[in-house]
Amino acid sequence: MKITGEDLKGVFIKTYGCQMNVYDSERMTDMLAPAGYTPVAGPETADLIVLNTCHIREKAAEKVYSELGRMREWKEAASRAGRRVTIAVAGCVAQAEGEEMVRRQPAVDIVVGPQSYHRLPALVARAPFGRPLVETEFAVAEKFATLDGVEGRRPLRTSKGPVAAYLTVQEGCDKFCTFCVVPYTRGAEISRSVAAIVAEATRLAGEGVREVTLLGQNVNAWHGAGPEGRDWGLGRLLFRLAEIRGLDRLRYMTSHPVDMADDLIEAHRDLDALMPYLHLPVQSGSDRVLAAMNRRHTRAGYLRLVDKVRSARSDIAIAGDFIVGFPGETEADFADTLSIVDAAGYAAAFSFKYSPRPGTPAATAADQVPEAVKNERLLRLQALIADRQTAFMASRIGVEAEVLFERPGRHAGQIIGRSPWLLPVHVAAPETLIGTIGRVRLTGASANSFSGTFAMRGVAAEALSAAEVAA
Ligand code: SAH
Ligand code: SF4
Ligand code: F3S
Repeated sequence: MKITGEDLKGVFIKTYGCQMNVYDSERMTDMLAPAGYTPVAGPETADLIVLNTCHIREKAAEKVYSELGRMREWKEAASRAGRRVTIAVAGCVAQAEGEEMVRRQPAVDIVVGPQSYHRLPALVARAPFGRPLVETEFAVAEKFATLDGVEGRRPLRTSKGPVAAYLTVQEGCDKFCTFCVVPYTRGAEISRSVAAIVAEATRLAGEGVREVTLLGQNVNAWHGAGPEGRDWGLGRLLFRLAEIRGLDRLRYMTSHPVDMADDLIEAHRDLDALMPYLHLPVQSGSDRVLAAMNRRHTRAGYLRLVDKVRSARSDIAIAGDFIVGFPGETEADFADTLSIVDAAGYAAAFSFKYSPRPGTPAATAADQVPEAVKNERLLRLQALIADRQTAFMASRIGVEAEVLFERPGRHAGQIIGRSPWLLPVHVAAPETLIGTIGRVRLTGASANSFSGTFAMRGVAAEALSAAEVAA
C-alpha cells in the first residue's frame, strides 16, 4: 500500500505491566505502520490511543477506567476540533473485562486481547463504522504467523534502545498458581518455533542489536519445533542463538523452578553469551504456603535447584519474586519467607502484597490476611531484600565487568550500560561507545546501579582512546 502525507496518522501506546506487554506494544506499532500510523510522544496529537494493560495486581482495572476517563476528554476535545480519535484497550485487562469495558466506558472503540492484537490494524480500519469492536479470541497460532510476517519488512522497533531488545518466545501458562490471572488472560502455554525465533533474532542483530532477552511467562518451559521436526528445549535454543553474528549477549525471563531443565543449567556453565542472571521466582519460603499456591515445588527443592545453578555458574545473580500475605500465611510462614532470602542468596528480589484477583481460587479463600499485616510484612521483607541487594553490589566493587553500553546518561559525558548481572553501570565516556562492550572496573554502587571506570586494558580502553582521538 502506498502511503501519502495525508494518510499519516499518529499512534500513542501507553504500556503497563510486564516486559511482554512492552514487546507486544512494539509489535503493535510495527503492525500499524503499513496503515500509516507513526508513533507520537503523547495522546494530545494521537489519532489512535492504545492502552496496553496489565491485570496482575491491585485495582488494575479501576486504574485503566480512570485513565480511560482522561482519554475520553482528549477524544472529545479532538472531536470538537473536527478530528476523530480512536481509543483501543489491549492487554490483560482487555482480555479479562471484554464487553464490560465498552459498557462502562462508551468512549472505547476497540477492546483487543493479548492473543489477538495482530487483528488491531483491521479493527482500527473498521472502528469509525458502527458499534465498538471487542476481540478476545485466543488466536495464538494466527498471531505468531503474523509476528513472523512482520519480520523482514522494516526495522523492528526496540524500545529498550538500539542495542538491546526483547523477543517473545513463549506465551501463556498452564501452571495455575492459585493467586495468578495469567493463565486466564494469556491462555495456554505455547511456544514459537526455532525458525521464527532465529529469524527474528538474526534480523535484530542485523539492525545492530547486541543483546536479546527472550521472554515468556514461563520462558524456561519453551519447547519449540526444531528444523528437523523434533522439539528443542531452551538450553539448545540459546546455543543456536549464540551462533548469530553480532549477538553477543543473551538473557531470558521469567523462569518457573519446575521447568529448570539440565540443558539450561549447562548453558549457564558453557555458554559465554548467556549472562549470569536468573530470575527464578519462589513466591514464599513456606512449604505450606507453596502448596496452597499450587507452586509444585518445595522450599528444599527450590534451594537444591539454586545450588545446582550456582555450581554451574558461580558468579550468577539470582533474583526472586515474593508474595506476602497470601491467604492463611501465618507469622511462622512469613519467617520462612524471610529466611529463604539468605538461604537462596538473592542478589535482588521483587516483592508484592497478595492481591486477590477476580476468578482465581485464592481470591475466595476464607482466611484472607488483613491489609495492615500485609503492609507490615512487606516492609520487613523489602528492608531485608534491600540490605542483601546492597551486600551483593558491594561484593562486586573492585571487580572488572563487561558492560554493554546502551544509552546516554542523564549527565553530559556519561553513558549507561548493563553489567552481566543486569544492574546498570554509569561510566564517564563519549556516546560514540554506545553499542560497544567494554571492560569496566566497578568503583561504586547506589541503590540500583553501579558506577565504574574503564579498565585500562581490553577492547573498550582501545575503543575509548580511538573515540578520544576522533573527538
Ligand atoms: N510467570 C512468572 C511471573 C508472573 S507475574 C512466574 O511464574 O514467576 C509476576 C509476579 O507477580 C509473580 O512472580 C508474583 O510474584 C506476582 N503476582 C502474581 N499474581 C499476584 C497476585 N495476585 N498478588 C500479588 N502478586 C502477584
Ligand atoms: Fe502465574 Fe504461576 Fe503461571 Fe507464573 S507460573 S504466570 S505465577 S500461574
Ligand atoms: Fe500483567 Fe498480563 Fe503481563 S497481567 S504481568 S501484562 S501477562
